[in-house]
Amino acid sequence: MKLRSVGIAGLGSYLPEKVLTNADLEKMVETSDEWIVSRTGIRERRMVENDMAVSDLCIAAAKRALEDAKMGAEDIDLILVATITPDFVFPSTACVLQDKLGAVKAAALDIQAGCSGFVYGLAVGSQFVAAGMYENVLVIGGETLTKITDFTDRSTCILFGDGAGAALLRPVGDGKGFLSFVLGAQGAGGEALCMPAGGSRIPTTEQTLKEGQHYIKMAGNEVFKFAVRIMGEAAVQSLEKAGLGPQDIDVLVPHQANIRIVDAAVKRLGIDPGKVIVNLDRYGNMSAASIPVALDEAVKEGKIKNGDTVVMVGFGAGLTWGACTMKWAKN
Ligand code: ACO
Repeated sequence: MKLRSVGIAGLGSYLPEKVLTNADLEKMVETSDEWIVSRTGIRERRMVENDMAVSDLCIAAAKRALEDAKMGAEDIDLILVATITPDFVFPSTACVLQDKLGAVKAAALDIQAGCSGFVYGLAVGSQFVAAGMYENVLVIGGETLTKITDFTDRSTCILFGDGAGAALLRPVGDGKGFLSFVLGAQGAGGEALCMPAGGSRIPTTEQTLKEGQHYIKMAGNEVFKFAVRIMGEAAVQSLEKAGLGPQDIDVLVPHQANIRIVDAAVKRLGIDPGKVIVNLDRYGNMSAASIPVALDEAVKEGKIKNGDTVVMVGFGAGLTWGACTMKWAKN
């Protein structure tokens, strides 16, 4: 069976209006703007209002992607939502979207791969289009991380923000669109980044609430070391699978966790820092939403043009990683 080439026909993103600056955090925990900027590169992040759920952000991003692709919700065959902050444990956030968008014929499911979730989603969604089972697959990375952040823990509360980004996948001409995917997992390291309570292992109780086990727990240093190694490795593997090398990269869209992790990946790849999309200074780490928001902004700002070789690479909870190489061809 000949597989079809798959590309991105529409992009959209949405960020909540409320801004949480480093100065705001200085009033909440023992920290400083200087420490946060020098250790992470983050200056401010967005934060949802209490009455907003992740599906609200995802819907806004999805509508913009559909408009960009000049398509209606009724055309969507499959909705994939990558998130670690779903509206509910079940039903899936993708099903909430399917209803609210009016995507009547779409199948729907969530993908849980931490900050690698959007790249995982692109890989999963593109298989359906490549094989000819579906024409239009909507992939969304959305998070409301501030809702699972402990704002008394200075080692994590400075890092995270909220947002959503969406991409509509469709067939494209041969040799264009996605050229390769690399996905990986190292479950043995999973404890370094987790939310301990609220699942079947540790159901929520008064005690778990008191202990704050419903918040993100992270061994920052371990995740940092893993990230520095895996970002460069995954990007190189993805390029090699596409028959390319780091010198062929026109634009790198990395996961936006920490500027020091991005810098290490850029050094490993030996590429011009001017080719790297960075927005973590404005939005912090939005987990699965970081890459699609950065991609959308880069395209809208004219930093990505047809024919460019674009590499996206991320790592996250699981532990997981994912990279893809594209020949950009948005129709
Ligand atoms: N303000 C001031 N001091 C702080 C703060 C803060 N906000 N946070 C920690 N410190 C202190 C620590 O207490 C420590 O003090 P000590 O030496 O007296 O014990 C000191 O600063 C150094 O702490 P480290 O943890 O070693 O700092 P590091 O340089 O490693 O930076 C950071 C911490 C930013 C968390 C880094 O480890 C990191 O970015 N890790 C990766 C996180 C990540 O990328 N996560 C992504 C996954 S997210 C997902 O999937 C949901």
